[in-house]
Amino acid sequence: MAGNWKMYKTAAETCAFFHKFNPLVAGSAHCEIVICPPSVNLSAAVEATRGTRIETGGQNMFWEKEGAFTGEISGNMLKALGSKWVLIAHSERRQYFGETNENARKKILAALDSGLTPVYCVGENLDERQTGGTHQVLESQLTGGWAGLSADRFSKIVIAYEPCWAIGTGKVATPEIAAEAHRFIRDQVRKQFGAEPAAACRILYGGSVKPDNIRGLMAQPDIDGALVGGASLDPDSFASIVNF
Ligand code: 13P
Repeated sequence: MAGNWKMYKTAAETCAFFHKFNPLVAGSAHCEIVICPPSVNLSAAVEATRGTRIETGGQNMFWEKEGAFTGEISGNMLKALGSKWVLIAHSERRQYFGETNENARKKILAALDSGLTPVYCVGENLDERQTGGTHQVLESQLTGGWAGLSADRFSKIVIAYEPCWAIGTGKVATPEIAAEAHRFIRDQVRKQFGAEPAAACRILYGGSVKPDNIRGLMAQPDIDGALVGGASLDPDSFASIVNF
């Protein structure tokens, strides 16, 4: 269960969140719990989660290890801070910051090289869904992002299906729509890497996940977890998603 805080919360607000959140999930050993705050607040989050099972991740990274790349951060920097995860190619990165499948591929490789677990985000927009292009979009995002990966390296990545039309809109995909897309993604993994990696691959759903719809989503066999935006900003609501 992962929370993507996007561009929300200061360092002080980060500490206040964990002060309330940590005890609410202290008994939750059934899943991994990850929070991805803005990178400037990662140290605060790492500090505030020390000694708990809660892990942290970046929301983005650059593919080079270091260099003259003003404004960027590397996988090694995230790792050195104590983070284990990084979101790659979130739809907002694709929409507003020109993220491409090819960039995503380089970032996934760099994340793996740094010992991070990349969470590779894919998903169609409303127009693509309405014109019947969902499978085609997912297929090209997936094959573009994982091009050149061995099955062994693929086994270290997590995929997040986030239909753009469901992000921040309150319009969650029905469990059936989400399940169909997750099944399609798992089929693509099977085609590319084989039955075992497909069965083992974790596919998260993201897009308007809330405490009152998590149960129906998680009841679907191909949905293995959630990537939560808005509802992860509130300790009570994210804790009830984790503990559904
Ligand atoms: P919301 O849960 O706010 O719809 O955001 C989903 C998301 O983009 C998570 O990465």
